[in-house]
Amino acid sequence: MTPYDDALQHASQYALMTVSLSKVYDSNGVQVRALDNVDFSVDRGEFVSVVGPSGSGKSTLLNLLGALDRPSSGKILIDGVDVFKADSDEIARIRNLKIGFIFQSYNLINRASVLKNVELPAIIANVGKEERNKRALTLLERLGVLDKSNTTPNTLSGGQQQRVAIARALINNPTIVLADEPTGNLDTKTGSEVFGLLKELNREQKVTVIMVTHNHELASQVDRIIRLRDGRIEKVVAG
Ligand SMILES: Nc1ncnc2c1ncn2[C@@H]1O[C@H](COP(=O)(O)OP(=O)(O)OP(=O)(O)O)[C@@H](O)[C@H]1O
Ligand SMILES: [Mg+2]
Repeated sequence: MTPYDDALQHASQYALMTVSLSKVYDSNGVQVRALDNVDFSVDRGEFVSVVGPSGSGKSTLLNLLGALDRPSSGKILIDGVDVFKADSDEIARIRNLKIGFIFQSYNLINRASVLKNVELPAIIANVGKEERNKRALTLLERLGVLDKSNTTPNTLSGGQQQRVAIARALINNPTIVLADEPTGNLDTKTGSEVFGLLKELNREQKVTVIMVTHNHELASQVDRIIRLRDGRIEKVVAG
């Protein structure tokens, strides 16, 4: 039995595990190895930050973990389930139910109300109207933007929009929340507030969080920091 087989046997005890995860992009005939045999696992309820220089593969990693893109080789196991072994419908279902994604630029739908934006992943998951409405309003209240429910996202400040995006990420009670520079578009004070909410929700709801950030002060206030360089894990330190 190889060390990987051994690790795989224990995969279900982790929220997430990667095995030799690699991504090679083809950029006009030039191969770019954006991720190179990355192995790590994240405990349930852990808050991990991912740091590293620009181009080191942070977003590539998060996009693979969130099943927004496919690896060139290697595996991702979420709750012990090998994500890319599944067919595309099943991958979409895993993404919808197990993963919440928070983007730097919020990615809210401006044609829909704040409430509808938050409810959307639950609508896709066929959660009944009453239940999803209750979940969305509870989250909007917890995130301090309940009074914005019936407005559209483009009338909100950046910090308010990111709070709505956090509510949307949590509506289906995911195993993992992935956040790619969630405070990158916010001023220092607002960024700290949004990060503080993520930390509180991580503790309250035991949701696992993986956050990419360039902010070293925030990066250090978590359980573990993974530093990438040239698509590889350079260092892992306790926060
Ligand atoms: N779609 C793509 N096609 C080709 N190359 C890509 C693509 N996306 C990323 N890359 C390359 O892969 C490498 C890793 O990029 P990635 O976006 O993951 O870095 P990053 O760590 O998130 O950087 P930043 O801190 O600037 O956001 C870089 O060399 C980048 O140019
Ligand atoms: Mg990036």
